[in-house]
Amino acid sequence: MSKPTFYVTTPIYYPSDKLHIGHTYCTVAADAIARYKRLTGYDVMFLTGTDEHGQKIEEKAREAGVTPQEFVDRIVTGQGGILDLWKLMNISNDRFIRTTDDYHVEAIQRIFRKMYEKGDIYKGAYKGKYCTPCESFWTESQLVNGNCPDCGRPVHDAEEEAYFFRLSKYAKPVQDLLETGTFLEPATRVNEMINNFIKPGLEDLCVSRTSFKWGIPVDFDPGHVVYVWVDALFNYATALGYMNDRYHDFEKYWPPHNIVGKEIVRFHSIIWPAMLMSVGEPVPQKVYGHGWLIIDGGKMSKSKGNVVDPYLLAEKFGVDALRFFLLRTFPFGSDGNFTNELLINTINADLANSLGNLVSRTTAMIEKYFGGTLPVEREADEADAELISMIRETAASYQKQMDAFQLHLGLEEVFRLIGRANKYIDETTPWILARDEAKKPRLATVLYNLLEALRVSLIMLTPFIPESCEKAFRQIGAGEEARAWENASVYGVLPAQVTVSKGETLFPRIDSAKMLEELEHLNKPAVVSKPVLPDVSIDDFAKCDMRVCKILKCEAVKKSEKLLKFILDDGSGKERQILSGIHKFYEPEDLVGKKAVAILNLPARKMMGMESNGMLLSAVKEVDGKEVLNLMFVDESVPVGSQLC
Ligand code: MSP
Repeated sequence: MSKPTFYVTTPIYYPSDKLHIGHTYCTVAADAIARYKRLTGYDVMFLTGTDEHGQKIEEKAREAGVTPQEFVDRIVTGQGGILDLWKLMNISNDRFIRTTDDYHVEAIQRIFRKMYEKGDIYKGAYKGKYCTPCESFWTESQLVNGNCPDCGRPVHDAEEEAYFFRLSKYAKPVQDLLETGTFLEPATRVNEMINNFIKPGLEDLCVSRTSFKWGIPVDFDPGHVVYVWVDALFNYATALGYMNDRYHDFEKYWPPHNIVGKEIVRFHSIIWPAMLMSVGEPVPQKVYGHGWLIIDGGKMSKSKGNVVDPYLLAEKFGVDALRFFLLRTFPFGSDGNFTNELLINTINADLANSLGNLVSRTTAMIEKYFGGTLPVEREADEADAELISMIRETAASYQKQMDAFQLHLGLEEVFRLIGRANKYIDETTPWILARDEAKKPRLATVLYNLLEALRVSLIMLTPFIPESCEKAFRQIGAGEEARAWENASVYGVLPAQVTVSKGETLFPRIDSAKMLEELEHLNKPAVVSKPVLPDVSIDDFAKCDMRVCKILKCEAVKKSEKLLKFILDDGSGKERQILSGIHKFYEPEDLVGKKAVAILNLPARKMMGMESNGMLLSAVKEVDGKEVLNLMFVDESVPVGSQLC
C-alpha cells in the first residue's frame, strides 16, 4: 500500500542579507515536522528556498556594485551562504527553489497569463501620491504630515499603468475559508485577518510594477514585472511542477502545509488562497503562522549583545543543541524572547542533565555491573508499573501535540518520561541492588526498564536532534527495528540480553559564566567580517574608471538628511557633479579642497531630482553594530585625474 503524502514548506527567504537565528528557527521547525511525518509513515515533500526578485535586492546589488543575480548567488550558493547554513543545520529538505530558476520564471509567466485570460487580472491605473524627486509612489497613510516620508517634500496625485488582481472578488470565499475548519492556525490569527483586513473591505491588488527591472517580466507586456509576492507565493506550486515540466509531483503532494512567520500570514491566508481559487487549484491544507524570536522585546539585531548568527551558535553549542533549544523553549505560535542565558540553561537542564545523564548513567551501570550485556534473569516489582505505562502511553500524547504542530508540547511529553525515568533511578537505587548478588535479576530489570524508557524517548526526539539520537541509539544497543515508530508505544522491544556501549558524552555541561563571556567576545564585530567576494577578471576590474578628484564645492542637499552634493575636478577640465549619502559622517566644510577617489563611469542616477555622475569611494565597516565610513582621501601630492589601476 502506498504511503499517505504530506507536503510542508517554509517561507522562501529573501537573500538580501545573511540569515539569522530567526530564519533558522522557522526552517528547523519545518524540518522537525517533516522528519516527524516521515517517522510516522508519510511520504513527505519538504520544500524551502529563496525569494530573489524585487526592488530591495536590486538596490542592495547596486550598492554592492554587482548585478542582482551575482548578488543573490553569493548569498544563496556562496561559501557560508543559505545552502551551507541548511546543510550545517541538518535540514532534510527534499527540494530547494530559487525564484530565479528558469522553470519557475516561465511558470509564473503562464500563471499570470492564466489569471489575466480569466479576467481576474486587468490593466488599470495605480493611483497614489507621487514624489517626483524621489520617483516614488506613496499611499495616503504612508505620508508624513502630508509630505514624502523620505525627503519631506510635497507630493502630488499621480497615476501609473499597472495590472491588478481582483482580490475583492474573492473576499467572501476567503472569509468563509478562514471561518471554517482549520485552514489558518493558531486560531487567534483568524480574527486578526478578518477584522483587520477582510471587514474593512478587500481592495484589488496591484500585481505589476514598472519602476524597477529585477523581477519576472509580464510576457505579454514586458515593461511590467510581476509583483514579487505573486512570484513568491506560487513557488509552493511551481516547485512541484505546476505549469512547468521540471517536476511532476503536483498531483501527488498538493495541497501544502505552509509554515510562515506571523508577519506574512496576511499574504498567505488572504492573497494566496484567492489566487489559488482564481487558477482553480485547491487552497493549502494549512497555513501556520508561527511567532517571532525577539530580543529584549524587539527585533533581532546584532547590536543587542546576543549572538544571532546561527553559524556561531552552532559552532559553540552544536547543531542538535541549537535545534533543540529553538523548539523546546518557545511555544511555536507565540513570540519568544531569545537570550544567550536561556540557551545555555536549556541545554544544561534538558540535554546535559536529564537526557545526557540518563544515557550515560544507564549505560555506565550496565557496563559496571554486567560487563555491558544484561543477563536473561529478571525480577519485576510494583515499583515498575508507572514507568512502564508511561513507556507505552507517551507516544500517543506526543503524536497528538506534534500533529497540531505544538512542537514544544510534544517535547514536553518526552521530557516528562525522561524525568520519570531519572526519578525511577532514585527510587530503585541500583547501586544498592548491585551490592547483593541475589538482587542481580532485580537490578537487570531496573536497567532494562531504563533502556526501554530511553529507547522510546529517542524515537520521539529523532525529529529534533537526529544526530544525537543516532549516537544514543547505538549506545543503548537499539537496532533498526527498535527505532521504528510502531515500537514507540511498545514495552519490551530491546532483546533481553541487550548489549550497550558507553560512548562519548552526548551533551557536555556548559560552564555558563565562561560561555557568556566567550559569546560577548564573539559578538564583537571583528569576527563578523564580510566574506571576500568571488573572483572577477582583471578585464572586469579594468572596466572601472576610478580617478583622483579634487572636491571644489560641497553642500548639504535641502530636505535630505543624508545627501551631500559635490562638485569635483576630475582632471577632464569639466566640472563633475556627484551626490553621496554621507552627511551622517561628514560636514561639507570639512571636505572642500580635499582629494578623494571617485568611480566615473557609472550610469548617471537621479537623486532628489538632481543628477549624480559617479560615486565617491569610501571604506566601510561595521563596528559595534554601527556603520563606520571613511572617504578614500589621497595625498595632496597625487595629481588630479590620476587613474587607479
Ligand atoms: N520572502 C518573503 C517570504 C515569501 S514566502 C512566499 C519573506 N522573507 S524573509 O526572508 O523576510 O523571511 C521571513 C520569514 O523568516 C518569516 O516569515 C519567519 O518565518 C522567519 N523569520 C524572520 N525573522 C524571524 C524572527 N525574528 N523570528 C522568527 N522567525 C523569523 O518574508
